[in-house]
Amino acid sequence: MDAEEKRVLELILKKQKGSADLLGILQEVEGKYGHITRETLSYLSEKLEVPLSTLYHLVTFYRCFHLEPVEKVVKVCVGTTCHLKGGEALYQQVKGSGGYQVEKARCLGCCNTAPALELDGELMSGDAGRERMKEAR
Ligand code: FES
Repeated sequence: MDAEEKRVLELILKKQKGSADLLGILQEVEGKYGHITRETLSYLSEKLEVPLSTLYHLVTFYRCFHLEPVEKVVKVCVGTTCHLKGGEALYQQVKGSGGYQVEKARCLGCCNTAPALELDGELMSGDAGRERMKEAR
């Protein structure tokens, strides 16, 4: 971990001062770096006085966290509405297209575009997402 990363972590911890919101802290780190390294977890464990196993459990339990860098992530919704509109088929199509880490999600909050997906943090319909992915190749 370099000095810059330590400085950022200190700022996050300072902002969350006195908070027991471990998920909030982890989400900020994930949002900043796109993943959370084991070294970062150890650092946070020491600073927060929280067992490393607790942080590791949270990071491996929730699918929004990554222990390794992930460049391109596609989340395909398989929530109820999207499932009824072909979300699982969309997931299989996108998963087989390569070039992206494909994850399943439960209701992305844009059921009107079902089946929906999230590409690089942007919500869109499955058709728009597939087009965007083709263009990116
Ligand atoms: S069920 Fe897919 S966006 Fe709501």
